[in-house]
Amino acid sequence: MPIFTSAQITHDGAVLVLQDPDGQSVRYHAIWLRDNAQDPETRATGNGQKLITVSDIPVDTVVAEAELSATDVTLTFQPEGKNVSYSLQWLADNQYDFKAGEETGCLSADVETWDHQLSDKLPSSDFTELSSSETCLGQWLSDVQRYGVAKITGGSKKSGALFDVVSLFGYVRETNYGKWFEVRSEVNPTNLAYTGLGLQAHTDNPYRDPVPTLQILYCLENSVAGGDNSVVDGFRIAERLKADFPEYFDVLSQYSARFEYKGDDGVCLRSKRPMIELSPEGELIAVRFNNRSCAALTDIPFEKMALYYRAYRHFSDMVNDPALAVSFKLSPGECFIVDNTRVLHARNSFEGTGSRWLQGCYAQKDSLRSRLAVIEQQYGAFQ
Ligand code: FE2
Repeated sequence: MPIFTSAQITHDGAVLVLQDPDGQSVRYHAIWLRDNAQDPETRATGNGQKLITVSDIPVDTVVAEAELSATDVTLTFQPEGKNVSYSLQWLADNQYDFKAGEETGCLSADVETWDHQLSDKLPSSDFTELSSSETCLGQWLSDVQRYGVAKITGGSKKSGALFDVVSLFGYVRETNYGKWFEVRSEVNPTNLAYTGLGLQAHTDNPYRDPVPTLQILYCLENSVAGGDNSVVDGFRIAERLKADFPEYFDVLSQYSARFEYKGDDGVCLRSKRPMIELSPEGELIAVRFNNRSCAALTDIPFEKMALYYRAYRHFSDMVNDPALAVSFKLSPGECFIVDNTRVLHARNSFEGTGSRWLQGCYAQKDSLRSRLAVIEQQYGAFQ
């Protein structure tokens, strides 16, 4: 079936109108089309990078002619007198003729929120399979993208094995904690993560800008009583807030919180970001929640501060709600990864008998998405 069956130009040449077989019209601006020309003078054939700037496009650019075939439309731009062909499939894939959304808090199409019911189907794969099968890896990476959390089983029980996990898709993000950090009981710890106390679910390092977007926690020893890990979907919390207490959602997304960490000598990390971050289009893009590193909140107007604290408390209560959490106990050689811009992680308290030794590190989501996109180019999208 043809994608578009007719191509018209508005009388001023400013807009191309394509019609699909159902009679639905899709509009494209002349300036947008010219900027997205795929010819070798506009885009490098090798890497696809653009060779012109928007300033190089004549300000009075119009589409003077349009010729439609089954698979392409060829346009003539004036005043350049330039002919450019566009794949109809590409135009269909990149159409933008929709009404601007008024809803805030919407989700990207490749994201699915969850609650405790994910316990039965928490994504998990065997490390050997992930290392040897691109489709297995693609499915796992897709699950991380969709749910913001996934486990790996059957890995090495040696120190440093977490780097083998990161190597599946990207690179370690080094911080002042080093390339990795040890998580086990210590005397006189500088950070509560290194004690046996339970920790409220949180996202890591909200005091960094940008935050580490992925965290891997890898288990090497775990014979203590307790010490389970649990995860909570911050996007589900944001959705619930939006539905049940929209004024809480608004105040947490419209005003910045402040985060700070200065536990180590020579380190003073500060950031100013909202606890619920939206894109300019209103899409939910990040949640930051960490009671331990929340600094004095000074960006919320006096009149809104009481409301802000009600919203912050409600967010915290939801973080503590077992109905929203998925808990599991890692065995040696197992690990989990979280999207640290979305999924909060927690650890229940544990006793001093036995041993608990985890290693953690950070990585970045862009490289994970890149690896997934490359695999999907070969095998198609994973569900
Ligand atoms: Fe943490």
